[in-house]
Amino acid sequence: MSRFYLTTAIDYVNSRPHLGTAYEKIAADVIARYKRLAGADVHFVMGNDEHSQNVFRKAREVGEDPLAYCDRMAAEFLEVWKRLDISFDDFIRTTEPRHKAGVQALVRRMTAAGDIFEGHYEGWYCVSCEAFKQEKDLVEGLCPIHRTKPDWIREKNYFFRLSKYQDALRAHFSAHPEFLVPDIRRNEILRLIESGLDDISVSRAGQAWGIPMPEDPQSVIYVWVDALINYLSAVGYGTDEVLRERWWPADLHVIGKDITRFHAVIWPAMLMSAGLPLPKQIFGHGWVHFKGEKMSKSLGTAIEPLDAVQRFGPDPLRLYLIKEIAFGGDGDFTWDRFEDRYNVDLANNLGNLVNRIAAMAHKYRGGRLAPTTEAPGRLADVAGRAVDEYRRDMDAFALERAAAAAFRIVDAANEYIASTEPWALARDGSKADHLGQVLFDVAEAVRVAAILLLPIMPGSAGEILRRVGETRKVAALRLPDATWRHDGERVMAKADALWPRVEAQAAPTSNDTDTRDGRRQSVDETSKTPPASAAVPPASTPAASPSAPAAERITIDDFMKVDLRVVKVLAAEKVPNSRKLIKLSIDAGTEQRTLVAGIAESYEPEALVGRTVVMVFNLKPAKLMGIESDGMVLAASPDGGKPTLVGFEQDVPPGTRVR
Ligand code: MSP
Repeated sequence: MSRFYLTTAIDYVNSRPHLGTAYEKIAADVIARYKRLAGADVHFVMGNDEHSQNVFRKAREVGEDPLAYCDRMAAEFLEVWKRLDISFDDFIRTTEPRHKAGVQALVRRMTAAGDIFEGHYEGWYCVSCEAFKQEKDLVEGLCPIHRTKPDWIREKNYFFRLSKYQDALRAHFSAHPEFLVPDIRRNEILRLIESGLDDISVSRAGQAWGIPMPEDPQSVIYVWVDALINYLSAVGYGTDEVLRERWWPADLHVIGKDITRFHAVIWPAMLMSAGLPLPKQIFGHGWVHFKGEKMSKSLGTAIEPLDAVQRFGPDPLRLYLIKEIAFGGDGDFTWDRFEDRYNVDLANNLGNLVNRIAAMAHKYRGGRLAPTTEAPGRLADVAGRAVDEYRRDMDAFALERAAAAAFRIVDAANEYIASTEPWALARDGSKADHLGQVLFDVAEAVRVAAILLLPIMPGSAGEILRRVGETRKVAALRLPDATWRHDGERVMAKADALWPRVEAQAAPTSNDTDTRDGRRQSVDETSKTPPASAAVPPASTPAASPSAPAAERITIDDFMKVDLRVVKVLAAEKVPNSRKLIKLSIDAGTEQRTLVAGIAESYEPEALVGRTVVMVFNLKPAKLMGIESDGMVLAASPDGGKPTLVGFEQDVPPGTRVR
């Protein structure tokens, strides 16, 4: 079995992760999951970079001990990565003893090679970059990345003879054109090497926060030297030779373009100095922009990843970032576009397909699909080609193209339904076999597409596989399982709509009560087109429209699952920092509850007190702007209008069921 050791950059913890840093982790996770799907033994490592001066300062600013602060931040980072479904195998923190051992071991080897010498540094230092800057790097005296004035420092430093490795680096780049990708980064770094490399400072004086130089505890190791070594210390360098032997050299470092120089010049030179093999490849991805700027906490353009997760769950976000941004280039995140793509790719396309095939399988075949004596239709060819293209694109880290390949199968399956018209075939008894084959083919196309989507949308693709009767465990599936099959019976699961369409000010319908993960109750306060009411879910899938085919309507049993009750508003207040949300305390007859409703544009809180309204009583609670909403009130949201609460002509006691 081939092995694949994959890393991401380790994050500074002076602030929480934002969507830009999360993008890197999601992209690397897609690669890790793809490699596992392709059968590799994967070791995926992420971590936190804790010895930065910024981290130290931030801890002081909030009055915490630096290590205690880092512990707290590590928990926050891990929570975000968990919510984004990032499947790392190990998470390293640079304050861990195993890391300290690795760093000191490597610096000792560089010293033994005669590559570390004492000197004085005088010049600019940008703490946000944690980088020594030359005058020519500054724009109007400011760091061009952080737009802040760097510090002028003069101190005793240890230096690394980077200049000594200039020729060896050049030779490595020419012998291994794949070492740094995409080409734009490689060309930039080649130019830098050609322009001549200076020796660099590898220690800082007068600081207590960091790992001491092995021979001079008065100096701490420069945070970038410290951080880069995480890729080695995480696999046992300095502590566990067997582990190190097993995983080093890394197969791929995934990093952002702003830190390419550290990874593609300084890091390989350090490894050469220590006599260790170089990583096989470095991928320098682009930046996620927000409002035309690099997303960044210090620039005030950061989006909290959990806000985006709360909108629709983790997978729509993962899909958006992977499919909409060419991996290697820059891309934009906007709430509007995120919502548009959700509607197009998931509600209208993939979700609709999954709902339709399940509904038709149940209507026409009692939920069981099997191949007939007919040969598979044209979908088999489309899927076969898409799998080949997907594999080629994933292997080249063209993640966006791989995602598009999977969606080509989805598009083709939707078109196939439209052109074969299963509902017409069902009316003609002589076409029964053909109908069976059409339905089987569509289900098989969905199965193949879902396997390809596993790395990108792990949770949802797993759920889709379950719905189309894939009985094997998701973790056991491999790429060859995406080969078209013309055998076996598929038992199709009946389930709720996967991704209901969202539309501003859409009327609620019975199909809108699915809140397995609470995502449809979430409100995007920054979007221009949020649902009219947090309590009023967005518009349903086409399945619930009056003209929907009978197969896609719900049964009375489905409707009865929704527990609608009359409740009385006891208290109401606006949710701070929200234009739309009102917090309600309600009396439901048997108990009191707190709800959050998106009706502030239509109602003053005082006017709501004493009013009788209808709520969905058995909805899973969801957090809105930090408040747990334990149910949802019903309102009509006419197109272009404001929400109007559902009410009664006569007094009805709280607790009464509505049917
Ligand atoms: N701690 C260093 C990395 C050390 S690796 C040995 C660092 N940390 S960071 O927190 O500033 O950035 C972590 C990663 O997120 C980097 O790869 C960086 O390029 C990436 N990104 C930061 N902002 C980003 C965007 N707006 N968009 C995409 N990636 C972004 O640098």
